[in-house]
Amino acid sequence: MDRIRIRGGRPLEGRVPIGGAKNAALPLMAASLLTDEPVTLANLPHLADISTMANLLARNGVEMGMNGDMPDGHTGRVVSLQARDAADRTAPYDLVRRMRASVLVLGPLLARYGEARVSLPGGCAIGTRPVDLHLQSLQELGVEVEIEGGYIHARAPRGLKGATVIFPFVSVGATENLLMAAALADGETVLQNAAREPEVGDLARCLQGMGADIEGIDSPTLRVRGVGSLRGTRHDVIVDRIETGTYLIATAVTRGHVLLENARLDLTAALVKALDEAGVTITETDAGVLVDARDRRLTGVDVMTEPYPGFPTDMQAQFMALMATTGGASMITETIFENRFMHVPELRRMGADVTVHGASAIVRGVERLSGAPVMATDLRASVSLILAGLAAHGTTEVNRVYHLDRGYERLEDKLAQCGADIERVKE
Ligand code: EPZ
Repeated sequence: MDRIRIRGGRPLEGRVPIGGAKNAALPLMAASLLTDEPVTLANLPHLADISTMANLLARNGVEMGMNGDMPDGHTGRVVSLQARDAADRTAPYDLVRRMRASVLVLGPLLARYGEARVSLPGGCAIGTRPVDLHLQSLQELGVEVEIEGGYIHARAPRGLKGATVIFPFVSVGATENLLMAAALADGETVLQNAAREPEVGDLARCLQGMGADIEGIDSPTLRVRGVGSLRGTRHDVIVDRIETGTYLIATAVTRGHVLLENARLDLTAALVKALDEAGVTITETDAGVLVDARDRRLTGVDVMTEPYPGFPTDMQAQFMALMATTGGASMITETIFENRFMHVPELRRMGADVTVHGASAIVRGVERLSGAPVMATDLRASVSLILAGLAAHGTTEVNRVYHLDRGYERLEDKLAQCGADIERVKE
């Protein structure tokens, strides 16, 4: 299995292009199931999860064509997806187990064909992560759900009927599934306590481009008036705020100076506020977002993860790596997932001083982290170890690189271009 080897201690200096958001691209690809016309997505990142979704959609009758790289030299791809018909309306265990976002075909398959069979995902590295909310809210639109042989068998023999759905807590995936289902339902659907993550807004805007009637985008109440059919469109995938945040922290943790091209600060305000309090200078320029942490002595800052616009759970592990290198103490509280501190024992192996009490971790900054062989169980935990390795004295080897390939395009190239001593060791 491949490993990434880092010799730490070099401040990053240079430019990093930020790509399209994985967590926007996945539901946008699933939305192509809603029409028989081509949906063209530009700025699609090149990631393992995108290939997994492409494989799943191919099973569901979607034909895909690559239209090449972006003309301005960025690596984001332009891909056309056309769902003429789906003989097979299944998301099999093998794919759902590998990528939970496979569950996002449930809403569109039901809306278009009145039926879907999706494997139950089971637990995963960051928590139990059930899909009960997806199912309960689809039932309110008239969907009949049976669980059989580990599969969700969902049917809407009389079509989907608009309804008011009040989510008891915020779920990104359930909001996305319901938006796609409601777009083709009969009558009006109101989604209350909907997720406001920018990726949900991006999906809603693409659906509008396909002819959906949606009001309240980016607010907690979404009002969808179902239409008889949707058409094809062309849509640019929103920039990845988590990739942006990860490079903000890569720069801060090495006390470097980097320009993040294409980045949007408005999508990452909670993190920018915390970094500003810690002592990092972040400015928006015409060329991109400029991060400056040269010669800084950073201080500890407390954060708590929350649904958007709060501090993102997908940045918690990376922020912890940074806090481990400051001159102060920080309390990091995780409220979204119950098991998202799996990086803590690995960071400790690198000399970090972290104690976990329930959902909170107390991090006391140390003078210097030290390189070590480490491994992690999920995407963001893995990248937090890369960040710690960039700051550490000596050599760090991060195992299970396939986690990183799910969500970070050309990670080692982008870091190496800014002067990091980093390489992929193939085995
Ligand atoms: C999305 O996952 C993201 N994935 C995750 O990114 C992200 O961490 C998460 O939102 C929170 O921001 C994609 O967009 C593809 P949720 P999702 O439904 O939709 C519980 C990454 O690293 N819940 O908002 O699955 C759930 O267990 C990943 O890129 C239920 O109990 O997250 C969690 O505690 C990881 N029942 C909370 O809600 C349900 O039916 C929020 O989950 C659904 C969710």
